[in-house]
Amino acid sequence: MFYDIHCHILPGIDDGARDIDESIQMARLSAQDQIEIAVATPHHIPRSNLSGRAEINKMVSNINNEIERNQIEFTVIAGQENKISDDLHRTIAAEDSLLIGCSNYILVEAPFIEFPAYIYETLGTLLEKNIRPILAHPERNQLIQQDLTILKRLKDQGILLQVNTGSFVGHYGDKTQSAAEYMLKKGIIDVVASDAHTSTGIRVPNMSEGFDIIENFSGENEALQLTSYNPHDIILGNRLP
Ligand SMILES: [Fe+2]
Repeated sequence: MFYDIHCHILPGIDDGARDIDESIQMARLSAQDQIEIAVATPHHIPRSNLSGRAEINKMVSNINNEIERNQIEFTVIAGQENKISDDLHRTIAAEDSLLIGCSNYILVEAPFIEFPAYIYETLGTLLEKNIRPILAHPERNQLIQQDLTILKRLKDQGILLQVNTGSFVGHYGDKTQSAAEYMLKKGIIDVVASDAHTSTGIRVPNMSEGFDIIENFSGENEALQLTSYNPHDIILGNRLP
């Protein structure tokens, strides 16, 4: 059984599922792929009517009703993919930015090209407030691809690292794939997720594809750890080392 902590399954809120039909199709694909629970992580749109705890909870409850009506064995819980900005701790306190479910984990996204120094400070502030940041797909960041020591600094700080399954498959190009393989070899990945956006094409829910590649590289134990045990602990709010 897989647990997917990064998935753009909520309809019409960001660049993920276009409408409820596509959401349900993504739910169906997730269930077929042995994913039991996915965290809905729409991109955070500050202070809009598409962000905030009440709004996201309502959408999650709607999608779960539709999933049940369609008799799909799959559950969605609330979350958000949050841009790293220096007021993140304030938008969390205001319940405009969301943590993952009832846990103290938060999914955060760095800029794709640069990796400004304020990121360490911002994430450090969250850690001081007992909120554990999970950095989404660092292997896709251009600066990290050129300077992999950034990853060690983040790990030393206590930041968790989430790699996309598609990065192992090569969906985002050679440099991203090499960075993902380097991270796997170094044992510095904490969790793998689909970052699925659609019901067709390459960005569909696909945990098993990632599992197979990790299993070939690092063995079954590591594959289970990254796709099942660790994401399950994150959802449950259990502490990861
Ligand atoms: Fe995402």
